[in-house]
Amino acid sequence: MAAGGQVQRVLSGMRPTGALHLGHYHGVLKNWIQLQHEYECFFFVADWHALTTHYNEPHVIKDHVWDIVVDWLAAGIDPGNATLFLQSMVPEHAELHLLLSMFTPLGWLERVPSYKDQQDKLQERDLATYGFLGYPLLQGADIMIYRADAVPVGEDQVPHVELTREIARRFNFLYGRDAGFEEKAENAITKLGKKAARLYRERRTAYVERGDHEALEKAHALLEEQQNLSIGDKERLYGYLEGGGKLILREPEALLTEASKVPGLDGQKMSKSYGNTIALRDDPKRVEKELRAMPTDPARVRRNDPGDPDKCPVWQLHQIYTDADVHTWVQEGCRSAGIGCVECKQPLIERILAEQKEMHDRAAIYIEDPTLVRNIIADGCERARDVAEETLVEVRRCMGLDYS
Ligand code: TRP
Ligand code: SF4
Repeated sequence: MAAGGQVQRVLSGMRPTGALHLGHYHGVLKNWIQLQHEYECFFFVADWHALTTHYNEPHVIKDHVWDIVVDWLAAGIDPGNATLFLQSMVPEHAELHLLLSMFTPLGWLERVPSYKDQQDKLQERDLATYGFLGYPLLQGADIMIYRADAVPVGEDQVPHVELTREIARRFNFLYGRDAGFEEKAENAITKLGKKAARLYRERRTAYVERGDHEALEKAHALLEEQQNLSIGDKERLYGYLEGGGKLILREPEALLTEASKVPGLDGQKMSKSYGNTIALRDDPKRVEKELRAMPTDPARVRRNDPGDPDKCPVWQLHQIYTDADVHTWVQEGCRSAGIGCVECKQPLIERILAEQKEMHDRAAIYIEDPTLVRNIIADGCERARDVAEETLVEVRRCMGLDYS
């Protein structure tokens, strides 16, 4: 809840580049399911974002857009509680992205860590593109167009939320000021005296243009020391430091989602790129077979060799899926060679299959009748567009684009 008692708004998106797996479920999705009861939630399929890296295989994206929505519904996202939509069906995001691009310094985008990281990681793709460089700004537009208060993201995405905050601040600074504000502020600066005025300007520039927080603190300290400044001028100069404008675009907070600890079928972290996933709505026969073949503590070669659960990925799954009694049974049985690995996996397989059955059951009506999914998304897009349009009207006006 916000200070005013109003429900805060959450926005998050997912790229449709593959079927969702248990790593997504225990990381991101369970978090979304929780959030939908506490916040006003907007969740969207980020098809344009997927194109920034998969522009040469658009069919991959097209194939997964609807599947990913079914995965959400299967996992327990409730379209009665959250607004679900598709990014490209709300083209307002693109207009805001364009308008923001006018005043976004190139250096801010080049400094976003994912820009270089992803280029290094995805060597097989040519990511020296305009779209890829601008992708964190597009993300900023996604967030700001809904005036979202909070954005659940993984650690790798936190710098994108940071960038969004800086863009919002820069927008408000450039376009959000009342008439005459700047003149009054400039006038107040001259009253500081020569030396203090110079320091104030330097520190303000460092903060406004480079986001230097230390400079902001020093500027505050400088104002604190001023004896001969009227309260009005002091307030003005505080405001001038941070733009001092009206807050047209909101600065969002990142809600850090803990990285999922789900091991993949080969014992490494579960990830599509390792080909070791269990999909949310996987075939139960395959799941059972793969889990039976999953590696265990390598020291347990024979049935009589004692093992160490801490060296076993199956134990990591137990920690997610089974209860305390089973945990004790595994710990004791494994270390004393009292149970075999096949036995150890049995309760786990049952729990995973039970969870997956629930998902299959929830998905059934949507697979039977895909128009239900289309309608959920159409409704969501309509709601999203209403909010997005409201923000855009104001942004266009601020940027002098309200011709009539
Ligand atoms: N960039 C995110 C990812 O790769 C997806 C995304 C796009 C997003 N727009 C967003 C997440 C806005 C949060 C908010 O996972
Ligand atoms: Fe892993 Fe269980 Fe085998 Fe121990 S008994 S090595 S925890 S699968």
